[in-house]
Amino acid sequence: MSSVRFEPAGPLRGSLRPPSDKSISHRAALIAAMGEGETEIRGFLDAADTRSTLGAVEAVGARVENAEPPRIASELRIHGVGLRDAGPATIDVGNAGTLLRLLPGWLAGQVGEEWVLDGDESIRRRPVDRIATPLREMGADLSAREERLPPLEIHGAELQGITYEMPIASAQVKSCLLFAGLLAEGETRVVEPLPSRDHTERMLEAAGAAVERDGLVVTIRPTERLRPELIAVPGDISSAAFFVAAALLVPDSEVVLEGVGVNQTRTGLLTILERMGANLAESELTGEYGGEPTANIELRTSPLHATEVGGAEIPLAIDELPLVALAACFAEGTTVIRDAEELRRKESDRIETVTAALRALGGTVEPTEDGMVIEGTGGLRGGTVESHGDHRIAMLGAVAGLASREGVEVVGMDAAAVSYPGFEDDLGSLPGR
Ligand code: S3P
Repeated sequence: MSSVRFEPAGPLRGSLRPPSDKSISHRAALIAAMGEGETEIRGFLDAADTRSTLGAVEAVGARVENAEPPRIASELRIHGVGLRDAGPATIDVGNAGTLLRLLPGWLAGQVGEEWVLDGDESIRRRPVDRIATPLREMGADLSAREERLPPLEIHGAELQGITYEMPIASAQVKSCLLFAGLLAEGETRVVEPLPSRDHTERMLEAAGAAVERDGLVVTIRPTERLRPELIAVPGDISSAAFFVAAALLVPDSEVVLEGVGVNQTRTGLLTILERMGANLAESELTGEYGGEPTANIELRTSPLHATEVGGAEIPLAIDELPLVALAACFAEGTTVIRDAEELRRKESDRIETVTAALRALGGTVEPTEDGMVIEGTGGLRGGTVESHGDHRIAMLGAVAGLASREGVEVVGMDAAAVSYPGFEDDLGSLPGR
């Protein structure tokens, strides 16, 4: 396990293009594999999680070109197997929760074949009942360890469309059911309690699927074939988020983040930080890239004040809430994060791991059932952070180190490679470190 020290930094200055979006890359590979013929994917993310997805689509019979080790080319080609012809396989999803939850939706309706999905130690703690329950309602034949944990076995069966009112806002569950709906008889309707990221809907629509969105309801009808042809992946706002926080917290910084995907279902962090007083500007949209809006984000160090975060904001900022907690340590006043119990079901229990990390650095944080209460004390002393194998906790520790008074040692920094293998180099590229 690698241990890396991050010293307090001088002003961060310069511009940076974050790596490609992980959520969109997973979907691109899966939808390309479902497609007929060849799909070109521009800007596929080269990281551990998305490599797992390429491995999965190859395992079911798709042919991937330009992804030979050691690097995945930014222009990747996938020859799909078609919607109904995935071959049987045992699939290692690694650490990728999105792959674990999305792929079964596609496989469940392919009659007569069998698949097993399993992964690392962290994946074996991540619930699959959230997808198994509605998929079974559609007629799927699935079995999981203790009814709710991987390994997940799938026996392809005929599916019927249903209307499913999701108990939690989860783009993974929604996406899984939309994939299942492509092969089910009749209409499949997914009702979300709150809006979550909508990349799947956008990409399926572009590939020719019959998807309709109306407020919180997404409806899909079965499709003969998908033709994605070309998919372009914008920069990942969830990766850019670490530099957003670093630029705001390290004194006298001025940073521009380029080509960031700013789909409104992903920009919750920016809204929250602006409310806390952050000096940030989204440039004119630099364009629609692959059906997703992108922009440059300009940041300057800003004095922050506390805020309350909950309700509809949670799904829009779910992966960035650890950074809200970090920023709150530097802000004036007491910040409350609520309605975020889902944090307990991520790559680690992020209510516990964020609390432990920030406390170890001198922060004043109380965990609650569904969030955290953070008292701003004007900064963090420094110390040691354990990543617990969670990429976002490792990178949180690194940013905390730059903004701290005494520096931070991150134990298990290698976890960052799950979503952002070049993170340390990018951090080092902004002068001041
Ligand atoms: C993701 C959705 C979110 C998010 C995860 C990626 C996706 O999970 O936390 O990192 O790509 O659909 P939920 O949909 O379970 O909230």
